[in-house]
This record gives sequence, structure tokens and C-alpha cells, in this order.
Amino acid sequence: MNKISLPAFFLLMLLFSYSHSRAQTQVVTAGKVNTVSISGQQVKIKTENAYAEITIYSPAVIRVRMDKKPLSADFSYAVTTDPQTIKAQITQNNSEISIVTDSLRMHIRKNPFAISFFSPSGEVINEDEPGLTTSWIGDEVTTYKKMQEQERFIGLGEKTGNLDRKGEGYTNWNSDVFGYATNKDPIYATIPFYIGIHHHLNYGIFFDNSYQSDFNFGASNNRFSSFGARGGEMNYYFIYHPQMADIIKSYTSLTGRMPLPPLWSLGYQQNRYSYYPDTEVLRIAQTLREKKIPADGITLDIHYMDAYKLFTWNKERFPNPQQLTNRLREMGFRVTVIVDPGIKVENGYAAYESGKKENIFLQYSDGENYTGQVWPGWCHFPDFTSSKGRSWWKEQVKSYIRDGVSGIWNDMNEIATWGQKMPNNVIFNFEGHPTTHLQGHNIYGLQMARASYEGAREALQKRPFLLTRAAYAGSQRYSALWTGDNRAEEDHMLLGVRLLNSLGLSGFPFTGMDIGGFTGNPTVSLYTRWMQIGAFIPYFRNHTGVNTKSAEPWAFGEEALEITRNYINLRYRLLPYLYSTMYESSRIGIPVVRTLAINNTFDANVYDTRFQQQYQFGPAFMVAPFESTKEFGSIYFPKGKWYNLYTDAISNGQQEVITPLSIKTLPVYVKGSSIIPMQSLIQSTHEKPSDTLFLHLYKGDEANSFVYYEDDGESFSYEKGGYYERAITYDPAAGKLTLSKVTGSYTSQFKYIRLILHGFDSNQRISVNGSSVSVSTSPFSFLSPISRFDPQGSFIPAESCTIQQATFANSNEFINVGL
Ligand code: NOJ
Repeated sequence: MNKISLPAFFLLMLLFSYSHSRAQTQVVTAGKVNTVSISGQQVKIKTENAYAEITIYSPAVIRVRMDKKPLSADFSYAVTTDPQTIKAQITQNNSEISIVTDSLRMHIRKNPFAISFFSPSGEVINEDEPGLTTSWIGDEVTTYKKMQEQERFIGLGEKTGNLDRKGEGYTNWNSDVFGYATNKDPIYATIPFYIGIHHHLNYGIFFDNSYQSDFNFGASNNRFSSFGARGGEMNYYFIYHPQMADIIKSYTSLTGRMPLPPLWSLGYQQNRYSYYPDTEVLRIAQTLREKKIPADGITLDIHYMDAYKLFTWNKERFPNPQQLTNRLREMGFRVTVIVDPGIKVENGYAAYESGKKENIFLQYSDGENYTGQVWPGWCHFPDFTSSKGRSWWKEQVKSYIRDGVSGIWNDMNEIATWGQKMPNNVIFNFEGHPTTHLQGHNIYGLQMARASYEGAREALQKRPFLLTRAAYAGSQRYSALWTGDNRAEEDHMLLGVRLLNSLGLSGFPFTGMDIGGFTGNPTVSLYTRWMQIGAFIPYFRNHTGVNTKSAEPWAFGEEALEITRNYINLRYRLLPYLYSTMYESSRIGIPVVRTLAINNTFDANVYDTRFQQQYQFGPAFMVAPFESTKEFGSIYFPKGKWYNLYTDAISNGQQEVITPLSIKTLPVYVKGSSIIPMQSLIQSTHEKPSDTLFLHLYKGDEANSFVYYEDDGESFSYEKGGYYERAITYDPAAGKLTLSKVTGSYTSQFKYIRLILHGFDSNQRISVNGSSVSVSTSPFSFLSPISRFDPQGSFIPAESCTIQQATFANSNEFINVGL
């Protein structure tokens, strides 16, 4: 106190606390635009109270950054692409700045600063709420958008609630929520991307800010929708395309797409918390084979470790992990192991000692390692936001690969700690720009999945399978995601479907949920229905908690076993279709589980809570999930013509149909004009199917095409041309099905194609490249009859169903089928 006097010091303190509390109580808006500088595709603006930077990313994507202070260096864990160079006009006059691209127009009002987006023909797509615009309360920043008449909101990834989120508010703060309620928010993942829909227009907003963020879609107000965060910049990407699918494509062009997964990860995965010792794991594998339940994966939960210490094996339970993984591989199983981020604080424990030595753990602001409690007891946690932390983890993960493991399951990475209150003064490296837990929290799961993916990939030199619980936008580049600790309850099964639908439209195509429920015990019918749905989701894993009853397919009686096996069989026969659809997702980001809103955006019925669970599984199938207790269900058929999967009976679109339900079948429909490649039944992807590809064609009125894709299912040689791809196009007007020339150097495992026609005339003549071929009429069934319980075989299609088959030799050249 030698430079200023004591009274002066107190006066200063008083002033400081006064201005500080004013900052907290005042709402500061951007205010009037003072200066504008335009350069190339960017506009920099200084307003009374803020700095803004508008960047044109593509004709359809414009980024808006704003802060009260000059914008800091640009950095994102989510966005991996730079702006494209495009033609755009940027002009200004006294009252506004205007940006015009081929896809949209943006106006920035100057006094006060406010943004509006218009379609090329001048309709308002989205506009700042003119009075509220973007504002700050202390460090919290929020952008308010005018609520448009009858506006709907969908997306935000893994969020509970209805498909249409209008009237609701959501928070993003990745949380460990054991047995969460069906309306719990937040849960595990942060994907701050949503799509707004009104007046036959739709747009996407991706708010790239990892602080705790809040979205309001008209909760407790009738004026605005908003998105904001408790710190950091306003930083959002506005996306406009007339078609929702294109919005998803643009969003995933910013945040990346999933890598093509290994084929085995699309097979059935058997899991519980936990299978041990090794003999029990083998017993489960053996029983799956004996009972002819196709399966590809067995997953080991935390009990494989020695006292839950990462990168160790419990010597008594798993004396020889390599021998086990080899034995399982011979039986056609791949092993996935769980990893948690917490490294036990224990002298002499190798991972702890090396992590400490290399100084890779998260630390408090005073430099002491942060210690939190989780399964092994008190733990330190690697800082995955530093390349040093990731490199360390990558090396550790490689030990699993050396032991023959093929998949890494990243759990508890929200970060979960007992007490669930990680202190905010824990510092995250953030690639050399240290920040607090406030900004690091929601990123942790993404960066853990990244480190695990990179480590596993390097060691395996093949495609690893990765699963994560916590995520941030962009996690799809590394990992599949499952929806955590759900409950064995009917409404949780339906919630799970909605979560997957929402994740899909938010850029996450490879997803799953604990089939059968994690907490509690499902009824026989709930288990059966859930397993049926599991056959129609990308990651098909049965999992259950530590104190629950057995949940393998044989644990619920003979009938459940037969039904369940039937659907797992169907899943395996559908693998050529699913793999091709996953390939499409990896290329353009369109999900496999597709809410009906993607293709029927402006049809109000698809948002009806009675129908909101219905979804498309790839381009061809529509699944209508219902509680297993229901005897009748209302199904909405969107535009088009829909075939019953089991009977080929046709329902016309844009109508609601009340359907009797049976636990033996999941209501599944096929869209007219669909093309579905299938294969013979196999017991695991290790086994080769027969040499015939079964190509189903459903007569329809619209032209359609499907890209058939095949490769070795495990290596990266597809990146160098080692694939087999051909477009299959159906042109009903011309009566033609065309298989394009093959591209890629991979030789298909199929020698023959058997064409199976649905809905065609029984006298249908068929020619292949001009020569007529013989057509046989024989029944085709997607499911086997359930022998003991249904001796009549009710799954053999009804007589009225016309099914014909034609066989022709494989050719890599154009094949023209005349119909
Ligand atoms: C929490 C996970 O969500 C669950 O799937 C797992 O079984 C337990 N952790 C034990 O590892």
C-alpha cells in the first residue's frame, strides 16, 4: 500500500465492485454500427459495444462472430473446413450492409446492429429479434431470433423431449445421468446445431461455443428463440438450403463426417456390465454360436481391469487376454473394451507413474494435478486438449490393440466423477491456450474419443471401432455414440429412437442405445420389441447394468429367442444395404436413422407426437416403433407408396392407418421404388455369404437410385481405390433398372445377382441387356416362420403378393434390366 493511500484504495475498490455489479445487471446490446471494413468474403464491423466479423463460408453458409472485445484468434475443435472461395456481392449504404450469394441474402441493419437472412426470392428465413438482437449480461452472450409464425425447431443432437422442440429450453453441459428420466436435460452430449422450420423454409444454426450453452425455442416466452453461452464468443454458422438433407450436408461439411466403420461393428454386439472371467466370455460367445444367433462383437466392461485401473487386466479373471481375443476371433468375434479417463493415483501403477512423469494430467490453476473420484478411487485425468496428453493416451491405448482388441469404448468422459462437480478452476490446455473447466468441459469427450481413435488406428493399421458417451459437435469424425444409462422401460425405448433421430439429423449417423435397457429388467415383450428395433439402428448392442438379470437373447424364453433371432438374422441379411448406407453417411453426412422430417419437412403429421418416433432406416425402410404392450397402433404414411415388409400389402401415403400390432413383428414398410441389396444369412461378418447378391426392387412411380458399395470391410485400401461401387437406377416410366459400370478395383464377393421384384405383375417379362430371361415365382420371406409358436408360418407373404426372381451372371459393365 505504498503507492496509493488507504482511502483512495477503498474508493477504487468501491468503484470496481460497482462497475462489476453493473456489468452483471446490465444487458449490453451491440448497439449502433460505427465502422465497417469489407475484404474479400469477410466483413469486419465495430459497433458501439461490440466487434463483429461476418464470413461467407459457401453460398449457403455464413458465419457470424461477435464479442465485446476484439475477436481473439480463431480456433474450433468442431469445425474442420475453411471458407470456400465463392462469388458474392457485399455492399453497404447508410442504413445497412448487404451480402448476396447464389443461395441467400443477408442484411445487417446498422442502427442498431441486427441481422436478417432472406431466401433469394426475398422471404425472411431468419432474423434477429429487432429489439433484443445479440446481447451480453456479464460474460454471458445470447443471440435472440424473432419467433416466426408456426416455427418449429428440431435437432440439438442427444436431447430428450419431442421431435419438435418448440416451447422448450435446453442446456448443454455434458452430464453423467445414470437412469435418466425421459425429460432429463442435459444428458451426455453437446451438439449445438438445430434446424428451424416455417413457411416452407428451413435453415440450420450451428452455435460453436463449448461453454455451457442454452437454447430457448419459445420456453417461457412468446417472442423469440435464442441461443447463448455463459462465456466465450457469439459464434454461429447460418445455413440455408431449400432441402433439409442439404442443410445436414452443409453442417457436416463444416464439422466433418464419420469415417467408414469396420463391417464387423455393424453386426450384433453382445454386452453386459460385466462379463467375466474369460470362461464366461467364451461361454456367451459359444452359446451365441450354438443357438445360431449371429453376432460379431463381445464387449468387456470395467471388470476386466485390475481394480478398475486403466490399461491393466485382472490377472485372475483374464490371465491371457491375447489367447482370449485370438480364440474369440477364430469364432468370429471382435472384442471391444471399455476405457474411462480416470487414472488411479497409486504409486507404482505404470499409467499413473508415466502420466505424472510426462505431466499430462489436468491441473488446478496453481499447478497441482486435479484429483477426482471414480471407479478406481481417487484419480487424475489426462488433458486431452493438449497434444502431449493425447499422445500419451494414444500410446497407452495401443496396449489393447497388441492384446487383440478391435474396439475402444470411451465411457465416463463428461467427465464423470463422484459428486459430479468438477471444480471450475481446473485448467485445460486447449492446444496451448489455457482455459478453465468452463470452456473445456464440453470438449473433453470429443478429445478423448479423438485420442483413442488415433491411437487405435495407428496400432491396428485397420479401421478401429470407437464408441463414446460424451461428445461435442464433430465427435462423429472419430466415434460412434450411444445414449448411456437408459432404463428398461417402454417410454425409454421410444425416447431412444427419438434421441437417435435427433442425433442423426445433427450430423451423428453411427449411434446406438442400450437395447433392452441399462437399469432395471425389461418384460419379455419389451425386450423382444427393443431387439427388433435394434436390428434397424446402426450400432446394435444389447447391454445391461451390473445388478440386472441376464439379458442375452435366450434369457427371455423360447418365443422371445425365436423372434429376436429372426430379426438379428434379418439384420445380417441386410448388411449389404446397411453398409452401403453407412458409406453414404460417411461421404455426405446423411444419417441412417432418418427422422421423417428430413424428407417430409413441411408435413405437419410427422411432428405429431403420435408419429414422431417413426423413422426411415436408410432410404428404403420406414420403421414404426410402438410400445410392446400396444395391440393397435396408428401409423402415418408420408407421401409415396409403402409396402408392408412382410406381406407386400400396399398403403398409400399421406394417410393415417390404424394397424393391429403383434410382438412377432415390428411394423416396417418399404417405400415404393426402393432398391435393397441383401445377402444370404451368415453367423458373423467373418463368414462369407453365398455368391449371390439379392437385389429387391419395389415397384413405384418415382425414379430412384441406390449406390451399392462394397470393400474388404476392414482396411483403409478403399481410400486408394480398393472398393466396388455401382449406382443402381430404377426408372419406372421407361420400365428399366440399370446397374452402372463398376468403379473401384475391389472384386465383389458376389458372382450373381438375383433380382426379386415386389409389386410387379405376375406375368412380368424381364430382359437383361436385351435378352429375355426366365422368371420364377416363388415366395420370399424377410423373416422365418416362428416354428414352434406359429406353425402356419404367418411370415410367408400372402398369396396376393407377387414375387418373381431372375438370375443373371455378374458383370462389371452396364446391366440394363427391362421390366
Ligand atoms: C457407465 C456406462 O454408461 C455403462 O454403460 C457401463 O456399463 C458402466 N459405466 C460401467 O462401466
